[in-house]
Amino acid sequence: MLYGTMTSLRSLTSFSILLGFVLADCECGYSITTSPGDTKYVFTDLLESDFVHLDLTDGPPEYGKYGWAPQEFDMSSDVARGPYGESFSLQNVVSNTIADAQTFEGSGSKGGDAGLNLVVKSEIDNGMVTSADISTTVLQYYHGTFRAGIKVTDIPGTCSAFFWYMNDTQEIDIEFLSSEFNKSNNTFPVNLVLQSKESKDAGFDASKTDGFKKVNLAFDPTTEFHEYRIDFLSDRVLFYADAELLTEMNGTGVPSTPGNLQLSHWSNGNTGWSQGPPKEDATTTVSYVKAYFNSSLESRQQDYRIRCKDPSAPTAVCAVPDNNATFFFSNMQNMTINQTSYHENSGGRTRQWWLPLFAAALGTCAWLVGL
Ligand SMILES: *[C@@H]1O[C@H](CO)[C@@H](O)[C@H](O)[C@H]1NC(C)=O
Ligand SMILES: *[C@@H]1O[C@H](CO)[C@@H](O)[C@H](O)[C@H]1NC(C)=O
Ligand SMILES: *[C@@H]1O[C@H](CO)[C@@H](O)[C@H](O)[C@H]1NC(C)=O
Ligand SMILES: *[C@@H]1O[C@H](CO)[C@@H](O)[C@H](O)[C@H]1NC(C)=O
Ligand SMILES: *[C@@H]1O[C@H](CO)[C@@H](O)[C@H](O)[C@H]1NC(C)=O
Ligand SMILES: *[C@@H]1O[C@H](CO)[C@@H](O)[C@H](O)[C@H]1NC(C)=O
Ligand SMILES: *[C@@H]1O[C@H](CO)[C@@H](O)[C@H](O)[C@H]1NC(C)=O
Ligand SMILES: *[C@@H]1O[C@H](CO)[C@@H](O)[C@H](O)[C@H]1NC(C)=O
Repeated sequence: MLYGTMTSLRSLTSFSILLGFVLADCECGYSITTSPGDTKYVFTDLLESDFVHLDLTDGPPEYGKYGWAPQEFDMSSDVARGPYGESFSLQNVVSNTIADAQTFEGSGSKGGDAGLNLVVKSEIDNGMVTSADISTTVLQYYHGTFRAGIKVTDIPGTCSAFFWYMNDTQEIDIEFLSSEFNKSNNTFPVNLVLQSKESKDAGFDASKTDGFKKVNLAFDPTTEFHEYRIDFLSDRVLFYADAELLTEMNGTGVPSTPGNLQLSHWSNGNTGWSQGPPKEDATTTVSYVKAYFNSSLESRQQDYRIRCKDPSAPTAVCAVPDNNATFFFSNMQNMTINQTSYHENSGGRTRQWWLPLFAAALGTCAWLVGL
């Protein structure tokens, strides 16, 4: 009897410890390893946006739905530094989703590649080229690994960009200039850029600084989706395509503040950069964005301190898989506890796994006590 009570007590105690230390997988964050030396970095927060299934434009326009805001603003040709201005228009941001949650590629409901279409129109509106831009709504993205699945337009005369942005001297860019692609000699450059105080001093021409590199991709970015990735660390920035390191930049151009994430597709006719405008409407499609990052928000840092009981527990930190277009931690039942995650058909609300998990834990507890 006494022995039995002791055993129950002991199993109850060890269960409590288990419950206390690993309430769920990944509660202490998401990790990457980078070359050289396979250094491991852990990030506490995530934003995963599956644009094959999330419709950014469903329902009435609502600022910040799913953590993103399509942008609407005009840039005069003076500000845009091109013969044309740029008009970022909501109409040029088009969600083209697939209803079946298990299908990640193929045509969307509107025909053509499923995902978020960013359109640059050939028709000039009031001296401006109509363009597209979406931005995350919370300026909290500090060090992190930022990834996007993108199929770039093959219509010459536009710039497709995936970037991290604080201001014009704190910016990390991956930019594709469709006029630079040449299918007949198989040349597909991508421009990797740190906009910095140095590039500002050079008239915002980063090519005159260390923060610029044009790299030829090993594939044609206009025929398939590929994963483009920025690792923003405290002392360096790494750029990847399909998990292959393209280049590393370090030094004073590495940003020192949090920022937000943006995707854009634009043209202003500037012969030195975007060229164009395109002769026909051009579409660049984004299938997903996955951001694993440390938040600059004090409230999120506090949440982490409460959530993360023991970073050395076996499942407390989860490794981020590389270049897997169908993998989302937020599709797993217990890997995004206390993170904001969005799902199709959730009406833009946060899906919380807290309650079901907690109920399951209580159920198990009751069962143990019953023993
Ligand atoms: C999380 O879920 C996976 C698979 O559903 C399971 O193998 C694992 O034990 C769960 N972990 C916890 C801490 O509940
Ligand atoms: C992110 O924040 C966590 C918690 O403060 C910290 O342990 C980790 O080292 C940070 N990661 C980086 C890359 O700075
Ligand atoms: C950008 O932000 C940094 C850090 O706050 C600041 O030092 C710099 O002057 C800003 N640059 C511009 C162009 O506003
Ligand atoms: C391929 O064409 C581009 C221009 O479209 C040119 O800049 C590049 O030098 C060419 N490369 C080779 C290897 O011919
Ligand atoms: C593409 O490359 C081929 C071969 O190098 C060259 O003849 C052609 O002019 C290039 N096309 C453009 C648009 O630069
Ligand atoms: C800075 O980056 C270059 C590659 O661009 C690399 O060779 C060098 O080792 C890096 N320096 C440091 C201190 O990491
Ligand atoms: C990618 O993730 C999916 C979903 O978790 C998984 O089924 C698949 O095996 C993964 N693919 C690879 C190559 O790891
Ligand atoms: C995270 O947990 C804290 C309580 O520790 C709660 O206040 C906060 O709302 C939670 N955040 C999310 C996104 O679930």
